[in-house]
Amino acid sequence: MKQIINTESGHVPVLLEESIHFLAPKDGGVYIDATFGGGGHSEAILKAAKCSVIALDRDEDAAKRAISFSKKYIDRFSFFLSNFSQIDSIIGENFFDGILFDFGVSSFQLEDVARGFSFQVNGPLDMRMGNSGLTAGEVINSFKEEEIFQIIKFYGEERFAKRISHDIVNNRPINTTFELANIVRSVIPKVSLIDPATKTFQAFRIFVNDELKEIDIALSKIENLVIKNKIKKANIVTIAFHSLEDRIVKNWIRKNQSKKDEINEKKIILRENVRKVVVPRREEQQKNPRSRSARLRAVTLEYLGEKE
Ligand SMILES: C[S@@+](CC[C@H](N)C(=O)[O-])C[C@H]1O[C@@H](n2cnc3c(N)ncnc32)[C@H](O)[C@@H]1O
Repeated sequence: MKQIINTESGHVPVLLEESIHFLAPKDGGVYIDATFGGGGHSEAILKAAKCSVIALDRDEDAAKRAISFSKKYIDRFSFFLSNFSQIDSIIGENFFDGILFDFGVSSFQLEDVARGFSFQVNGPLDMRMGNSGLTAGEVINSFKEEEIFQIIKFYGEERFAKRISHDIVNNRPINTTFELANIVRSVIPKVSLIDPATKTFQAFRIFVNDELKEIDIALSKIENLVIKNKIKKANIVTIAFHSLEDRIVKNWIRKNQSKKDEINEKKIILRENVRKVVVPRREEQQKNPRSRSARLRAVTLEYLGEKE
């Protein structure tokens, strides 16, 4: 395995070599990096072929990082500050050859104290990737106990959700990441190296950013774009960091495959390019612990043409 590329940005792109392998950039091709972040994957795509990249991110800080890309790759790179659920309005009637989704948060977001994503640094409870919608603090301090319970249970898959939500409500107002983390830690016994606050933080982050719905909408819009724009072949690569994200992608793949017997009526076909998920090799996991939970899926969508 080649050395892991640490971009100028500081965020180490995960499963980089594997993503490029399945995206298979070709000269003249158009690739969408739906989660630009620090641009590690965008850069690798642009270096792999004389192709173009259309990058998206909902985070204004990512937009600022993209400026240097626009200067370096004039005519080959463009950036849109947008949620990927809006992918159809950005692509319009244009064609594309591949799309990459590297879900979740970047190291920039995690390490920026003011963003409130991490329980390892003490900051305000914000957790928004963009700058609209409720902050985590607003949710934590104003929602009913039952609603907080549902968020922690479903988006954190946390079995202690009942007790955590109860203690959260009894300790309001909660203003900082350390305050929230300490409440969770006081409820859950620490039995492994994983911080007990991990799942609760994940839950509020997913809720605040409506992350699962974003994925669901984007995937179904891609299907429609391939049909509407008559795209012969598009490679789609996804990198998920927890089972909730991965399950949405897996179900989307199954849904499209289950139509196999209706092939004559179908306008689109989906081929799975890996039998199961691809996980980072041990070397990558050691060098970049954040990569440990990553799961890559790769499919090709093909437009089959108009049916009688
Ligand atoms: C894991 S990072 C991507 C890192 C990037 N591949 C790199 O190599 O630097 C995920 C990025 O996706 C963005 N993101 C997450 N959900 C999004 C959504 N629904 N729409 C647009 N961007 C999103 C986040 O703001 C973050 O910058």
